[in-house]
Amino acid sequence: MAPAPASDPCSFASYTKCATKHLNLTYHVDFDSHVLKGKVALTIEVLENKFTSLTLDSRDLKISMVTANGQSAKFSLGPQHSFKGSPLEITLPFELSRGQHVIVEVTYETSPKASALQWLTPTQTAGKKHPYLFSQCQATHCRSMVPCQDTPSVKHTYYAQVSVPKELVAVMSAMRDGQDADPHDNSRIMYRFRQPVPMPSYLIAIVVGALESREIGPRTRVWSEKEYVDRAAFEFSETESMLKTAESLAGPYVWGQYDILVLPPSFPYGGMENPCLTFATPTLLAGDKSLSNVIAHEISHSWTGNLVTNKTWEHFWLNEGHTVYLERMIGRCMESEQFRQFKAMGGWKELQESVNTFGANSALTNLVPDLTEVDPDVAFSSVPYEKGFALLYHLEELMGGPEVFMGFVKSYIQLFAYGSVTTEEWKSYLFTYFKDKVDILNKVDWNAWMHTPGMPPVKPQYDTTMADACITLCQKWVKAKEGDLSGFSSADVKALSSHQLIEFLSLLLHEEGLPLSHVKRMQEVYDMNAIMNSEIRFRWLRLCVKSHWEDSVAMALQMATEQGRMKFTRPLFREVYTWEKHRELAVKTFLASRDAMHPVTAMLVAKDLKVDQDQTTGL
Ligand code: BES
Ligand code: ZN
Repeated sequence: MAPAPASDPCSFASYTKCATKHLNLTYHVDFDSHVLKGKVALTIEVLENKFTSLTLDSRDLKISMVTANGQSAKFSLGPQHSFKGSPLEITLPFELSRGQHVIVEVTYETSPKASALQWLTPTQTAGKKHPYLFSQCQATHCRSMVPCQDTPSVKHTYYAQVSVPKELVAVMSAMRDGQDADPHDNSRIMYRFRQPVPMPSYLIAIVVGALESREIGPRTRVWSEKEYVDRAAFEFSETESMLKTAESLAGPYVWGQYDILVLPPSFPYGGMENPCLTFATPTLLAGDKSLSNVIAHEISHSWTGNLVTNKTWEHFWLNEGHTVYLERMIGRCMESEQFRQFKAMGGWKELQESVNTFGANSALTNLVPDLTEVDPDVAFSSVPYEKGFALLYHLEELMGGPEVFMGFVKSYIQLFAYGSVTTEEWKSYLFTYFKDKVDILNKVDWNAWMHTPGMPPVKPQYDTTMADACITLCQKWVKAKEGDLSGFSSADVKALSSHQLIEFLSLLLHEEGLPLSHVKRMQEVYDMNAIMNSEIRFRWLRLCVKSHWEDSVAMALQMATEQGRMKFTRPLFREVYTWEKHRELAVKTFLASRDAMHPVTAMLVAKDLKVDQDQTTGL
């Protein structure tokens, strides 16, 4: 077995010399200049003798002072790396030995283009009156808002005090700890937070806006601008029962509160598992209730990800694969085993799509990729989610079924709780837990699963009860000749659930591309354009663009820009771009909305559309 690596390829901070134990943040949120002015006090444990210097991660920070135990300390910023930022080298004015602690305090300002932050103008909000700020630190963006050891191998608690204009509210990924008038400025309020459970830096999160909230359970409130609160309360009403189900599967929920914050439409993900406060896209609120596997997913991260954490982003599948596994277990408990099988089959197709997009030989389709000089945002895909899930499901079948394998997952969580793990550590515990079945485990082609690109070496056989109706209808459309189109009617989809409609469209997208006459007929008989559910609309518009339906181009670009969830926005832009006739329009539309986009989304769409960075700076 290879020895555990001593460092994280995505961080300049070494976690073998010293480790952050606690962080105390003070922020003054400045909406005029789009900067956070603040300081952070890091409590650092020394892990080696003759310790006189340390390196923190930073990105685009303006640092004015560093002290160590109150004494001024020398510091310098190293050269800027394209996505890792600049190493902040701090030299202590004294020497420390293993086991001692030091408090390093950094006074600094963030950049208006901090990659973790999006600053929204009032017109970009639902209420149109107040500005809004939100953060997204995963994977490597925390360093653009806090100088820190920005690696998931290090865990610490945190406190924060945040001063904001008094008409606004601040929330963080922590327990709320009261508020007071800002003693320095009576037009402002100071909000206090405390996170007493050790967690990695990427889970630090902040939102400031005209927020309101409503209680929906004994440990749950929904937060959003007031325009969304009631819809959010309705959409997420099953949260407590999901939490209880998750606890019955994985053990006690240790984070106290479980709140959900609905963000503005530019939030780049479906959900983000910030402790005590899951972030969610508003696209979950459109259309019918019922599709919130996102909340089951983010709840599951409370165990896999937040309690047991990937040691570096190369082991990201440990976070996401186990979380998808738990999410689908919640589906099994709350719906049925057939529902889990149906979702698992959908996941396999998502995996296939990612493998197709990257190419079956791309090293980024490895379950455990090498991220040396690779930006984790660029590497992001369904692979860690669905190859990870497929591996766990395969092992479930080999080891004796869902109950047996869930026993392992729960035990893995207990053993590694409050820690960070590598794939090797996970695997070694798998062999320990199933010590009586080692001969079966030894037959698994581990190298193919973990270190080989493309689809997995084994394709699981999933139950097709719920998928059959989708497969049949898809095939009917694929095989239909022009003359057969009159045979379709709205009755075809009457009995299909939203989940099945999504699956039906995914299957069609997987095919060669339907003739234009077919998608036009589909609109006539199913009135797909009227369906507001974002998962359905996204796939429908892709299908239309793929079939070269002119009318759909504007709708696809509208959806790509009106909301910014990358899972929708990137493929929609890419689909229009792929149609040569409209390539220029895709690029033009992107350039026009770029300034209003989230920095990470803008960076990735620019790459997808092969827009040169220089083409746009200074526009
Ligand atoms: N932690 C992820 C989101 C993430 C991953 C942000 C990597 C930044 C870098 C979150 O838990 C997630 O997976 N969200 C999914 C939900 C889906 C799998 C149900 C999403 O956003 O679509
Ligand atoms: Zn996740």
